[in-house]
Amino acid sequence: MQNPLTVLSPADLRQRRSQKWWRYPEDVLPMFIAEMDTPLAPPVASALADAVQRGDTGYMSPYGLPEAFAGFAARHYGWHPDPAHMVVVPDVLRGIAEVLHLVSSPGAGVVVNTPVYAPFLTLIPDNGRRVVASPLRRAADGRYGYDLDALDRDLARDGVEVLLLCNPHNPTGLVATAEELATIAGYAHRHGVRVLADEIHAPLTYPGHPHVAFATVPSPAAERAVVFVSASKAFNLAGLKAAMVVAGGTPAWQALQPFPTEVPFGAGLLGVIAGVAAFTDGDAWLASLRHGLDANRMLLAELLTRHVPEVGYVPPQATFLAWLDLRALPLGDNPAEALLDRAHVALSSGPTFGPEGIGHARLNFATSPELLTEGVVRIAAAVTPGG
Ligand SMILES: Cc1ncc(COP(=O)(O)O)c(C=O)c1O
Repeated sequence: MQNPLTVLSPADLRQRRSQKWWRYPEDVLPMFIAEMDTPLAPPVASALADAVQRGDTGYMSPYGLPEAFAGFAARHYGWHPDPAHMVVVPDVLRGIAEVLHLVSSPGAGVVVNTPVYAPFLTLIPDNGRRVVASPLRRAADGRYGYDLDALDRDLARDGVEVLLLCNPHNPTGLVATAEELATIAGYAHRHGVRVLADEIHAPLTYPGHPHVAFATVPSPAAERAVVFVSASKAFNLAGLKAAMVVAGGTPAWQALQPFPTEVPFGAGLLGVIAGVAAFTDGDAWLASLRHGLDANRMLLAELLTRHVPEVGYVPPQATFLAWLDLRALPLGDNPAEALLDRAHVALSSGPTFGPEGIGHARLNFATSPELLTEGVVRIAAAVTPGG
């Protein structure tokens, strides 16, 4: 199957109305928000075309989505979640917000591993909870890892009730191992902290870094955990609005009752239909996408070495996001802002991911090798004296 990242031309992409391609003027190369420059997977495109043909645009029904995800989880992660213990929600962020209200008290501490997906840092206070940052460890070579001792201490802090685990991790691309997850589950259990696992990037891991579903960890913490899943990242369906809240076990399902009935109705039927097709018939397309993304994450390393060797970059273990350390360049605390201005490349602002993101930016490499190359060449020209 053709690499999905090489199908669309820049002219095709400029026709898009999505946030990524609409937000900036034509002279800006958008490499910020987590959308992909791919066409739809063929089974998803035909399911959506059929739905449009039928005029099937009424209110959401969960039709088949829990079962389709259960099949995908079994094939890809050896996880067998119960379709009866899943709820459709509009998107992962709304799911997390609703679940925070159901499983934690107002003012509760919610631990996150910074630098972390920026909306977590606003969603938690917006929903009346407190961010408790437990920074990832970073080795001298720039590699990130879980600082398990620090996490143990942070989970024990006053008022902490939830660990919002982002695995695979955005923006570092870190994939937790089974051993790390077992240790984390043990700490969570000991401190009576409930784990909310955002596994939206789980279909996008690279060779050598298999995703371990938190719910499969042999621990009571897994039974209490609530997991967030969606086809929206791996199949580029974010605008169609369908994700799921999945109970790790019966105790988690009980804690989610009663789930506010209006929330599932905020999801889109087309998102459900697309998700069913993706989870049921999307494996072959996903395999070629992962192959193309794997090549891009390595191409990015080569391009940076060749054109801007000052940039620190460790290829991610999952996701199509590259976390760039730009502190060696004269771009200030928020290099994304400087590069938008000077290189006309739009990256995600590092400091929005937490204080560890100062001097950093996040680059989305789910694009063609040509546009990826253009992005790096533009950055290099902007930081080269006289360039
Ligand atoms: C870790 C993580 N969680 C959640 C989301 C947003 O998902 P949704 O659009 O389903 O809210 C993203 C989007 O990039 C993400 O990276």
